[in-house]
Amino acid sequence: MCGIVGYIGKNNNAKKVILKGLENLEYRGYDSAGIACNINNEINIQKEKGRISNLKENINFSEKSNIGIGHTRWATHGKANKENAHPHKCGKITIVHNGIIENYIELKQELSNLGYKFNSDTDTEIACALLDYLYNQTNDIIKSIELFKEKAKGAYAIGLLCDDDLDTLYAIKNKSPLIIGINKDENYIASDVPAILNFTKDYIILEDGEFAKINSDSIEIYDKNNKLTDKKVNKFESDLQDISKNGYEHFMLKEINEQPEVAKKMIDEYINKQDINNLIDLSKYKNITIVACGSAMHAGLIGKSLIEEYGNIPVKVEIASEFRYKKLFIDKDTLVIAISQSGETADTLEAVKIANDKGCDTLGIVNVFGSSIARNTSKVLYTKAGCEIAVATTKAYSAQATLLSFLAYSLAKNTNDKNKLNEINSFLTDLNKLPILMQKVLDNNEEYKEIVNDIYNKNDIFFIGRGIDYSLCMEASLKLKEISYLHSEAYAAGELKHGTISLIDENTPVIGIVTDKNIADKTISNIKEVKSRGANVIYVTTEELDNDGDFYDKKLIVPKTNSLLQPLITIIPLQLISYYAAKNNNCDIDKPKNLAKSVTVE
Ligand code: F6R
Repeated sequence: MCGIVGYIGKNNNAKKVILKGLENLEYRGYDSAGIACNINNEINIQKEKGRISNLKENINFSEKSNIGIGHTRWATHGKANKENAHPHKCGKITIVHNGIIENYIELKQELSNLGYKFNSDTDTEIACALLDYLYNQTNDIIKSIELFKEKAKGAYAIGLLCDDDLDTLYAIKNKSPLIIGINKDENYIASDVPAILNFTKDYIILEDGEFAKINSDSIEIYDKNNKLTDKKVNKFESDLQDISKNGYEHFMLKEINEQPEVAKKMIDEYINKQDINNLIDLSKYKNITIVACGSAMHAGLIGKSLIEEYGNIPVKVEIASEFRYKKLFIDKDTLVIAISQSGETADTLEAVKIANDKGCDTLGIVNVFGSSIARNTSKVLYTKAGCEIAVATTKAYSAQATLLSFLAYSLAKNTNDKNKLNEINSFLTDLNKLPILMQKVLDNNEEYKEIVNDIYNKNDIFFIGRGIDYSLCMEASLKLKEISYLHSEAYAAGELKHGTISLIDENTPVIGIVTDKNIADKTISNIKEVKSRGANVIYVTTEELDNDGDFYDKKLIVPKTNSLLQPLITIIPLQLISYYAAKNNNCDIDKPKNLAKSVTVE
């Protein structure tokens, strides 16, 4: 989603800092970019459609500037073009904005009646005009911001400059994320910490309704009641290394390869250093509802299978955008778990707020420290995956699934179920081998590239499996679609014959995932059904179920591990197959078209 960067400083480095910050936010996804800087007491705006590199070509970096704001726009209102790109200027006010002003149509009408003319299709230009109007009325920016908060409905993170005081940067936040970076003689605003990491690790998180007046050596923050307030200064724990490719061709490849390291960190944090049971006791809840979007929701499905199977608590997984608007059967006996890499996904955050209002305990499984979901849940467990830059999640998804398997294990320890005891008793030994097994799977690149030869130029690809393997199919299919633009579908293996099997033709690629020996025969029967209709079958299974037969064309064997951990191994080849398919098709792997890393609109 949109990225905001702002600068105020005695070093007059606005252009350099803002452009660098925007580049560090590129991973969020965008389709145009722009910058507004003070050049000789006048606001100079430059914007371009497309990549930041297009914008950079026309920027004169030798011109010094003490203050500026920059933006990467992910189109919501109006096309991705130069006119709609931010910053927008109306009268004396220039702003960049992330979010959606919901009542912009009414506001536009009111402002048009007052004589304002608009050049773009954006809600941002309306917000800018409203601020200009309020400033003309009050001649006081602080007062104008207070009135703006009353009039504008919706989500907004705004960076603001006023022609009458080009030594002050303003920041306003409601529902869309915004932080303030702190340094000697210069300060910054940004949508996310990576934007400022080249310059500082110290930052303040603004909460909904708050706004700030920022100078090069002072920061005043006003709370939601417009009273001056003190805020805690955070220090970012990771370093810049996390946001560099470290020799890999793409962030996605780097992040896939970081999975053994992330697993090690999580084992250390939640098993070796402390018992996860001491952090949260799930056994006191009668049921669990998981809310999440996209891949995080797919990780939730893995969690559902494991917690139900080993922890004996019923679990529902709800797509957060659906949860928000349906009748809910949750109460104080329900634990609502919100899973999110960014911790800023608007739908998941709203689902958390609804659950809080209903009196439920809420648990965040979140990657980004101090993010909105982390702050709004009653308890948070961090996934420790480090910065994830590629839009398509890999290491954060597997970290979410890892944490859920730890929760299932913590519940399972009290089981009397003899059938489950073997898995539970061997869990810790198997867990210690997990990073090594992950590495082993990562090293088989040539095998995955060969499988990609069968799929990269096909129109439709199917992933089929049952139970937890079906959840993996959903994730594998999403990954393939989003980065390689190949159409694929995930199907519960037993469901194909109820309609979709009519799409299976000679050579249609079908990837059958079979890792659960209790239902392996059933899935293999379904694979045979597609094979007999001509499908080109790629059989993905474990050493344990390695099966010579005439029902597949290629097979891909992954190491067998504890059932609670198996998905963490099996997903890796599927991530790599998507990666190599996208590479074969020359796709922009880290920044797939139309997508954003952090989805802060509903
Ligand atoms: C897919 C992907 C998305 C996210 C989803 C939720 O690769 O990354 O489907 O999983 O947008 O994002 P978070 O986890 O930040 O809430």
